[in-house]
Formats: sequence, C-alpha cells, structure tokens
Amino acid sequence: MEFYFFFVSVTTFLLFIFLVSLYSLKLFFFDTKTTTSTGGKVPPGSLGWPIIGEGIAFYRAGKNGAPESFFFERIKKYSSNTFKTSLIGESITVLCGAAGNQFMFANEGKLVTTWSRPSVMKIVKSNPGAGEDETKIYRKFSNHLVKLVNVGLIDTIAKKHFEENWDNQKEVTVHPLVKNYTFSVACWLILSMDNRTRVEELSQLFTTVMEGLMSVPVNLPGTKFSRAIKAAKIVRKELVALIKHRKMELSTSPFSSEKKPLNKQDLLTQMILSGDEDGEDSVMSEIDIADKILGLILGGHGPPSIVITCIMKHLAEHPEVYNEVLKEQTDIIKSKAPGELLNSDDIQKMKYSWNVARESMRFSTSTTGAFRQALTDFTYEGYHVPKESKLCWSGLTTHRNPDYFPEPEKFNPSRFEGDGPAPFTYVPFGGGPRMCPGREYAKLETLVFMHHAVIKYRWEKLISGYDKLVFNPFPLPAEGLPIRLHPHPTTK
Ligand SMILES: *[C@@H]1O[C@H](CO)[C@@H](O)[C@H](O)[C@H]1NC(C)=O
Ligand SMILES: *[C@@H]1O[C@H](CO)[C@@H](O)[C@H](O)[C@H]1NC(C)=O
Repeated sequence: MEFYFFFVSVTTFLLFIFLVSLYSLKLFFFDTKTTTSTGGKVPPGSLGWPIIGEGIAFYRAGKNGAPESFFFERIKKYSSNTFKTSLIGESITVLCGAAGNQFMFANEGKLVTTWSRPSVMKIVKSNPGAGEDETKIYRKFSNHLVKLVNVGLIDTIAKKHFEENWDNQKEVTVHPLVKNYTFSVACWLILSMDNRTRVEELSQLFTTVMEGLMSVPVNLPGTKFSRAIKAAKIVRKELVALIKHRKMELSTSPFSSEKKPLNKQDLLTQMILSGDEDGEDSVMSEIDIADKILGLILGGHGPPSIVITCIMKHLAEHPEVYNEVLKEQTDIIKSKAPGELLNSDDIQKMKYSWNVARESMRFSTSTTGAFRQALTDFTYEGYHVPKESKLCWSGLTTHRNPDYFPEPEKFNPSRFEGDGPAPFTYVPFGGGPRMCPGREYAKLETLVFMHHAVIKYRWEKLISGYDKLVFNPFPLPAEGLPIRLHPHPTTK
C-alpha cells in the first residue's frame, strides 16, 4: 500500500514537472521582450530556469530565515522597485516598498484585484475578493466581525485553554497548542460551536486542507492535494447542514418578536440575516455562505496561531521585553477583582504588550506575498502592465527595509512608540478595501493570550542557539517552538 502511494507520488511529480516545464518554456520564449506591442517598457527581471522559475531562489532565501533577501537582491540588481519574476508557473510583476503597497491598496477593485492560484481555488472555492460585489460582501463581513468582538468571551476561552493544556505541564510545544486555541476561538465566534468532539473533528479536517494548500497540486488518489479537496468537501457539507439548522432556529425564534431571542449572535447568524436587513441584494445561497465561512475559519485561525507563536519566541529571547510585558499585565490584574474577566478598557491599557506584538509581526512577517491580477492595462512607474497579468506585493519589502525600520534585524518594540511607522510601511494586515477583516479580533485574541501566558509563566526555549525562523512560506520557529515552563512562584 505504501509503495503504491510512493509510486503514485513519484509519477505524478514527474508529470507535474513536465507540465510546468512546458509552461515555463512558453514564458521563457515569449516573455523576454523589453517593450510591449503598445510601446510601454516591460519591468526588468529574470524568469529564471525554464522549469521552476526563480522558485528555488525564493525557497532558499526562506529556508535561510531571510526571505526578504530575495526581494532586496533584485531591487539592487535592477535598480528598480518594480521587477519581474516567475514563481509558481506564472510570470509575476513585483511592486516593492511603501509606494508599491500604496498603489496596490488604493487601486483594489479599480486597476487590480485579488488573485489566487487555480490550485488553491480548487480547494477553497471562494476567494472573498474578486470584483466589486465581492468587495462589498467582504466589507460586510468586516463590519459584522467588529460587532462580534467580545473580550470577556475570548478571555473565558483562553482561561479554559490554559487550564486544560498548559497548567501542570513542564514542557510544551507552542505552535500546536496555540493553533488549538485560535481554532476554538474561531469556531466559537463564527459558528457558536464549542462541542469539543465536533471542534476536534473539524480541526483535523482543516489541518488536511491546510496541508493540501501547501503541497504540489496534483489531484490523484493519495496525494495531499486530493485529500485536501476531499476534506474541504466534507467541511462544506457540514457547514451547509449547520446553516440549514440555524435557519430553522432563526425562523422559529426571530429577534424582533417577544419570543425567546436566539442567543447565537455569531457570524453565521449575521450572514444568514444580512441579505434581509439591507434589503439591497438577495440573500446569499447556502453553499456561498459555506464557502465563505470555510475561507474565514482558515484565515481566522492559521495566521494568528503563527503570530502568537512568534511572540512567544521573542519573549523567550528578550527577558527585558518579557519583564516589561509582565509588569503591564500584573498592573492590570491588580486593578481587578479576583476572577473578574478582562474587558476592553484592560485591552486599552496593554499598550506595551501590543507594541511587542506589532514588532513581532514586523520582525516575523507572515505577509510574505499576496497576489493580484490586473483588471485592465495600466502603467506603473513607467512600466506597462497588461490586463490579466499577475502582480504581487510583499510586507517583507518594507518591514525588513532599513530605510523604513532602522536596524531591521533588531527586535525593538519601542519603534512603535510615538508616531510609529510611516504610512504604508507597516502592513501586517494588508490595506485598502481588502484589509484583513479579522484584524481587531486577532489583536484581542493575541493580547488575551499574552496576558495569560506571562501572568502564569516564564519560559525558555528547548532548542537553544537556533534563532532563525523557517519560512515555509509562513515563518515558524523550529519544530513548533518546544519550551520549558517555569510557573511564577507567587501563583503556585
Ligand atoms: C458533541 O458532538 C458529538 C458528535 O457530533 C455528539 O455525539 C455529542 O452528543 C455532542 N455533545 C454535546 C454535549 O452536545
Ligand atoms: C487541543 O489540545 C489537546 C491536547 O493536546 C488535544 O487533546 C485536543 O484534541 C486539541 N483540540 C483541538 C480542537 O485541536
């Protein structure tokens, strides 16, 4: 059986390489012109090797823990903040620096729109983004999400999470546990789901989906890619069942009547009702809602789990920063009655902690690249960009740039004091109409997590001396960050 899978994966891999090389050859021969038929300049750059483009250079930069070097080497070589490369079997124009970010954000839905690889779309189906309608729906989500943010609720989930998974442990591996926490928060805020068995089942399906998104996209039995498509199908089916059930509940206990109101004030309810409220557009179909929810759960737990894990790493490495955070959080505890839940005033007081989180998101940037597609022909910095061509911006080109952040390789939360970074240089949540809708809730779940972690423990890394993050493509500390916990003597 295992041999069979091995055989399948080797054949499919070879087939894949063959197809990609044909495609890249096409790019190689047809994309080497320097002016276009309309006379505009083509951005400088190399499409790399016929087979894998410049993918290996990109991958290697990430493996070395310095993915920004891929961008900075090319900016220097071509003396241009705009260049062309080939990464995923596509020729891509990269816009760098604050000006590039600003251009992308300001022209979303006008000159450019979000684009996902066809293989990714095969798994997640919905890409809350393409076109004006989608942008409108997207904004609606953002507004709903802001309304749902509830500090006390997240605090309750965090408390329980620490009691069940951290207390009475001497050593833990941070990333799997944090993912566990962010997934529970997402399931609760989006679906009001807290049945442990069901959350765990769903979590496993999402892990399979995630692995497929990172794998070689070959849809044959046994590949990670095909397993991911199957898992996403099961998730969608479960979500549709949940939606039908919720609709029934809603129709038997409407908010407006004097009957008992439904207490499930989650994103699912908001989305089912949102078409009715506005009276503008028709209600989304069940499968549409399911697709969008799938995307939101995926984006709502994966990236925050990486951010929190990186914060835990930086706090272990910088005792002086840890001490400041501990002081701030202890002052908050002192101002409250024993057992009282955190509230939004407390979050306001976590200024230094939030600066640590922000510096961590700068230092360990997870927005390594986001793709866009040109909606029309346009000119940028004198370069001609034809309709339908693919573009990309990367937070790395500003976050790790000494022009915007002096000594970028130093972890220094004080950069965020005072006026903070210049516009469009600090972009962990993107920007413009497509700015991450979950940023406010990511902030809360991050700060609440930091609060509990530092109030309870000091910790040290078990893999010492290894300082670089491995970008794959998200930054992750080696082996998920195993640590040894030291509970504070006062609390034990
Ligand atoms: C939780 O979900 C499982 C599986 O769907 C179900 O069998 C169980 O009864 C549920 N538990 C509670 C407390 O609702
Ligand atoms: C959370 O972690 C615990 C302990 O490692 C594990 O048993 C449980 O399945 C996890 N829950 C989820 C939702 O992943």
